[in-house]
Amino acid sequence: MSSYIINGNKKLNGEVKISGAKNAALGILAAALLTDEDVTIENIPDVRDINIMLEVIMGLGVSVSRVDRNTVIINSKNMKTTVVDDMKLRNIRAGYYFVGALLGKCKSAKVRLPGGCDIGARPIDLHLKGFNSLKANAYIEDDFIITQADELIGSNIYLDVVSVGATINIMLAACLSQGITTIENVAKEPHVVDVANFLNSMGANIKGAGTDIIKIKGVKSLHSTNYSIIPDQIEAGTYMILSAITAGDITVKNVIPKHLESIIAKLLDMGNNVIVYDEAVRVIGNEKQFATSIKTMPYPGFPTDLQPQISCTLSIAKGDSVIVESIFDNRFKYVNEIKKMGAVIEINSNTLNIVGVEKLNGSNMTATDLRAGAALVLSALSAKGTSKIANIEYIERGYEDFENKLKELGADIKKEE
Ligand code: UD1
Repeated sequence: MSSYIINGNKKLNGEVKISGAKNAALGILAAALLTDEDVTIENIPDVRDINIMLEVIMGLGVSVSRVDRNTVIINSKNMKTTVVDDMKLRNIRAGYYFVGALLGKCKSAKVRLPGGCDIGARPIDLHLKGFNSLKANAYIEDDFIITQADELIGSNIYLDVVSVGATINIMLAACLSQGITTIENVAKEPHVVDVANFLNSMGANIKGAGTDIIKIKGVKSLHSTNYSIIPDQIEAGTYMILSAITAGDITVKNVIPKHLESIIAKLLDMGNNVIVYDEAVRVIGNEKQFATSIKTMPYPGFPTDLQPQISCTLSIAKGDSVIVESIFDNRFKYVNEIKKMGAVIEINSNTLNIVGVEKLNGSNMTATDLRAGAALVLSALSAKGTSKIANIEYIERGYEDFENKLKELGADIKKEE
């Protein structure tokens, strides 16, 4: 177990380059298995979840060549099994993408149930509903998702709940099916669009990604491609919020500003100055944040993956804030940790009532999941005194070079093994 030791109360300034989107990369790595030809993927973030995904892929007999830190070539011609039984899958969420990809390619898959952050119930009923609509037989048995089909047949699928995972997984399965699949009420997140663009670059016929309805015309086979992953919206948002919470001046580079609109809107509400460039966003943090209300929503709403970071920032805002978490039912575990720093926050079911305090004070805390861990680091960087944050392995799951990028911005942070 490792920890960060942080001396806070410093304004952080400078530029930070955002890495490739983790959640797009996870879907794209699974999608790469849909062809027997070479697939080159650039701008892959070098983070733990991605490295686990790559190890699991190699365990299937698939060739993975790491050209450089952020580029891999995948060739699944010699894939030897459709059973994905690696215990490492218990550490990541995206293992479920093996089901859609292997069902699509081999018409059969047996995949260990995914793990990932403990942020409440995370059912996969919509994934199974989608596969079954395509005339597969998909079910859960003894910790495995099992599915097989004689042929996958295009279908109309309505998702009762907007789900990133189900949208991507059904796209993966439907690309090589017969006929046309229509998925309604889909997720519109940038990473859903990126996976669709990647599949289209392999010869798939997917239309409508980024809108509420995706239409997939099945094709016979997919082919080689060379693709660069979009920048990570959540990593970018985290550094933008860092600028606000430390009253700093940070320019996040290599971003798509359109993906950051909901975050920019809230940072403006909170009294910060935001300047938008073509591929960068500069956030000049106000000395004092102002209270606001936020409800997490599917894209283009405010992302649940930035809820802990913004809530911690509002804990030092002037006035009372209300945060409603509408995506996951247990995403407030970090609140007990941040209270150790003097935050005044009350949890009422899926709502946080935050009474802003003048300043947070350094404390010993434990990261409870990936984004919560990042939120504690941001809080510690703004707080008076020294903090120790344990379990930072969670943070390494999703933030490339977190410690170094923060140091470049002037943070006093060091890792302790
Ligand atoms: C993905 C992201 C995660 C992000 C989340 C929401 C990855 C690997 N993870 O998680 O970082 O926080 O999107 O943006 O990309 N639901 C069902 N049935 C299902 C599937 C989902 O009821 O079959 C519900 C969930 O309980 C949740 C909501 O739908 O309330 C959204 O979940 P979903 O978008 O599927 O999240 P994940 O794919 O798990």
